[in-house]
Amino acid sequence: MERLSQLAEIGADAERGGTTRPGLSVDEQRACELVAEWCEEEGLAVSWDAASNLIARRPGGRDGIPEVWSGSHLDSVPGGGRFDGALGVLAALEAVAVLGSTPLAAPLAVVAFRDEEGWRFGRGFFGSRAVSGRVTEDELESADADGVRVRDALDELGLEGPPVAGPLPGTFVEVHVEQGPVLERTATGHAVVSSIAGMAGYTATIHGDAGHAGTTPMAGRRDAFLAAAELAIALRDAALVIPGAVVTTGDVRIARPAANVVPGRVELAIDARAPSDDGLQALLDAVEASAAAAASPTGCSVDLDRQWISPPVRMSERVRAALADAAAAAGVAVAELPSGAGHDAGVLAAAGVDAGMLFVRSLNGGVSHRPDELSAEDDVAGAIGVLAGALATLAGAW
Ligand code: GLV
Ligand code: MN
Ligand code: MN
Repeated sequence: MERLSQLAEIGADAERGGTTRPGLSVDEQRACELVAEWCEEEGLAVSWDAASNLIARRPGGRDGIPEVWSGSHLDSVPGGGRFDGALGVLAALEAVAVLGSTPLAAPLAVVAFRDEEGWRFGRGFFGSRAVSGRVTEDELESADADGVRVRDALDELGLEGPPVAGPLPGTFVEVHVEQGPVLERTATGHAVVSSIAGMAGYTATIHGDAGHAGTTPMAGRRDAFLAAAELAIALRDAALVIPGAVVTTGDVRIARPAANVVPGRVELAIDARAPSDDGLQALLDAVEASAAAAASPTGCSVDLDRQWISPPVRMSERVRAALADAAAAAGVAVAELPSGAGHDAGVLAAAGVDAGMLFVRSLNGGVSHRPDELSAEDDVAGAIGVLAGALATLAGAW
């Protein structure tokens, strides 16, 4: 808990509260370097891959056995809390410390994947996609709101990119806060994750006519912001009728914003998610239909561009069983939950790694991506014990 507080100081955000550590930023790098020091103190061999992921290894006892990794990410959303991501990295380090010199067959590694959140460059899961061979050369040209390209950010960190694929571990286990209210409501400290929702990201550009706010009559205006508002409402209505679907219009930008100018162009980001393949397809169809429907009554035109898609993914039965057995052995009650949030574990699972997750109860009603994100020390301690037991099983006795 002390280390979570230390990490929260890196990128502490006086304006928004909480912490702002953008992916591939100097602050994310500083957080990774501090964790690397702690890993070295624990006797782990620290390395950095071409995507700047931190991988700190403990050797295995036998040759030729695939590695077992555990970790998460150290970047944050703007004004984020101290648990999202950081907890998974520190829990992995603590679990390795708990295992001490227990002889295990497979090598273990504590991992911090870079730029998981994705709000800076619009994509996310950069580090885990890089090791999975899913970062393209084109993507390095995409820029953040200040015009800094992924390539420039990597350059500032002393990296050339494009990042090379692999090596992939055989197994990956990620501890993460639930980021939702279910465990708090059911008075359960932990859950083994069953699956991770499918998701897709779009940008929409709405073209209207800019004009003088005082002299352009209401009738006949082509107000791009009004079309954006219609679109957001249509998306909400569409998601409400698809089981488990959620859709969010969280980044809306008026070109040349001014109180006395009718908005002529608006760019917005759409985040669409659903737990099943069918639900995701229905939601994607609804996004297309909503864009067309929002354009017509406002006289605007909408260019919709799907940036990425990631289908729902199930967690490995082997990892789920190892977590459930370790929890039973430790006398820790665990529920089973699907994840609506995306995680590096989902990216590795899609790449064929045996990946699984353990959720830790979120308090304060389950809020996350906010400064007041909170989990209890006892629940964190329980998760470390369960993770240590599961890693011992998954790495195998020697
Ligand atoms: C990661 O936090 C996500 O957006 O699911
Ligand atoms: Mn996270
Ligand atoms: Mn997050």
